Amino acid sequence: MIFNTRVVEPSKPFADKANLKRAEHTALLKSAETSYEDHWAGLAKNNLVWKKPFTVPMKWNPPFVEWFCDGELNISEQCLDKHLNGSTAQKTALIWEGEPCDDLQPCERKTFTYAELHAEVCAFAEGLQRLGIKKGDRVALYMPMIPEAVISMLACARIGATHTVVFGGFSAESLRDRIIDAQAKCVITANGGFRRGKILPLKVAVDKAVSECPCVESVVVVDRLGETAESAYRNSKSAFTATQMHSGRDHWYSKCKIAGSTLAAAALPAEHPLFILYTSGTTGKPKGVVHGTAGYALWTNLTCRWVFDIQPDDVYWCTADIGWVTGHSYVVYGPLSTGATVYMYEGAPDFPDFGRFWRCIEREKISIFYTAPTAIRAFMRQGNQWPQSSNLSSLRLLGSVGEPINPEAWEWYHATIGSGKCPIVDTWWQTETGGVMMSPLPGITPLKPGSATRPLPGIAVEVVDDNGIPVPRGSRGKLVITKPWPSQLRTVHGDPERYKNTYWSTFAGPAGAVKEPYYFTGDGAFKDADNDIWVIGRVDDVINVAGHRIGTMEVESALVDHSSVAESAVVGVPDSIKGTSIYAFVTLKNEVKQMAGWNDVKKQELARELISHVGGIIGSFAKPDHIRFTDSLPKTRSGKIMRRLLKDVATGHESLGDTTTLEDVSVLASLRQSSDDE
Ligand code: WT7
Repeated sequence: MIFNTRVVEPSKPFADKANLKRAEHTALLKSAETSYEDHWAGLAKNNLVWKKPFTVPMKWNPPFVEWFCDGELNISEQCLDKHLNGSTAQKTALIWEGEPCDDLQPCERKTFTYAELHAEVCAFAEGLQRLGIKKGDRVALYMPMIPEAVISMLACARIGATHTVVFGGFSAESLRDRIIDAQAKCVITANGGFRRGKILPLKVAVDKAVSECPCVESVVVVDRLGETAESAYRNSKSAFTATQMHSGRDHWYSKCKIAGSTLAAAALPAEHPLFILYTSGTTGKPKGVVHGTAGYALWTNLTCRWVFDIQPDDVYWCTADIGWVTGHSYVVYGPLSTGATVYMYEGAPDFPDFGRFWRCIEREKISIFYTAPTAIRAFMRQGNQWPQSSNLSSLRLLGSVGEPINPEAWEWYHATIGSGKCPIVDTWWQTETGGVMMSPLPGITPLKPGSATRPLPGIAVEVVDDNGIPVPRGSRGKLVITKPWPSQLRTVHGDPERYKNTYWSTFAGPAGAVKEPYYFTGDGAFKDADNDIWVIGRVDDVINVAGHRIGTMEVESALVDHSSVAESAVVGVPDSIKGTSIYAFVTLKNEVKQMAGWNDVKKQELARELISHVGGIIGSFAKPDHIRFTDSLPKTRSGKIMRRLLKDVATGHESLGDTTTLEDVSVLASLRQSSDDE
């Protein structure tokens, strides 16, 4: 078992200044233990601005939960209006930096004070209203990392429209499916965005997607390219083409804004759906995870103060894209609700070189930095000269999220980026949990490289066997959450049965040790001798590629969608940078193999074609890294693909060579048949 016993004790100077002190932490653990509902009710009363106070802390009708449900509030008020009375109004809320930098001096940089951000949000919220967007409508966002993305999310929240942000790396088809599933009435996009020196053709993808979405009435387009596209990209490989606007449907963002608007935030029920975020599961179709307002607002705020220790003079940078939950909770809602200065960068970490992030940290004096292990490993591989060329002494806390962080990457992050003085918060959570569930608390919890350590106060997690019984320390089990919590997903959009089956049926209760249903995370874990938790990774058919969650079935369906493919099976194999890479076994239709001139060159061409086919259907980040053609797939007698076997074959692919044929796989299959059949 991977197990690093190094322990980094919290430093006293950090602890003395931290938001959360040990005594308060102990008290919180105790109150959650003794009076769960009162514990949460107290936090919700003291930490949220209510338009109408709640009287009912929670309603738990397993597996459906409501929190603070008769109260009314608006999360845009927590993030903006709340700060306007005091000095925070003139404090910088957002610092944004565009990617283009080589021939633009200085880099594109914009800042917004809280007062300015509030004005922008009001202006666009009222603009959305004039486009006919009402409380309860869904609005899809397909945007680059630009301030207008943050403003759009907050503007939707302000009028009670439920947003669904689709990561800009998704294909037009994925976007279409999400728009249709959410029945979005409006799409907000930009005519481009910059990534690794190229222009993302977002508007072109929107046009393609929306042509098949009768639900969409309007498209709002931010002019991101404007003049910069030409000046910054004279030398770029991307052709600059004028934006096509469909009259009657498309509107420029700048024209939608109602200047001078002071539109009040709508009073929304605590449970009002704030957003839908699609995430991969074990079946082919992504699930629309629905989050509510009050519980989510509460937990993203508290975790920003407890885990990230955000304080008034911090400059905070979470590198996640707003298209993922980390961007929702820890770029937008959480930090803005604490009145933080949030730094946001549009582009790639390695553009124009691997020093970009570190120069940003030096220039902006970033004090809190939150990123993913896959990025840390990529930087580590490039060598220390990049971070060492910048002054990183402003950093005081580092965070990690998205996948287990291997102790080697942890140590590098700690020593080279944090000069050995910054605590690292290894935050375990999921799209479904809304906010961080497990993490060391800086200044309180001893750090262990590779362990997310303990659940936060109020969060009840356990590592159990298939009967729901806690496993002994040191043994592997399944990670479950045993009590409902305020920021949990409320349902799967349009499919409550799926919500029930996916999350609450593995440990359904009441049966055996399980008195009430447990939420099943899909992760495997173990507890060490100190009761600290180590998350090992997914135990379902979901793989985590560079911190992106991808369902193996999704990739399989994309492959089978290609006219040459008969069948496919996808597994994840370990990768030193991405954590996991995608390995696809593909059987071809007979007519393809029988084609005249079918040879290795054609095979390689087809493999490349299949890889880009998957990119076109799902998005580039889901492209398989390896394609292996085989004449059949090993199956059990009941017809189930033997993934465990395929994983073994894929993991040992070097020794087997690249031209493994049908025989290899089927021979192995028959050898293993008896043991895997049951
Ligand atoms: C899955 C959730 C919400 C964070 C971004 C990913 C894995 C996440 C950790 C961590 C070990 C982690 C889990 C989880 N994961 N953080 N600190 N240590 N594993 O959100 O796309 O919903 O993926 O990411 O496997 O189930 P997501």
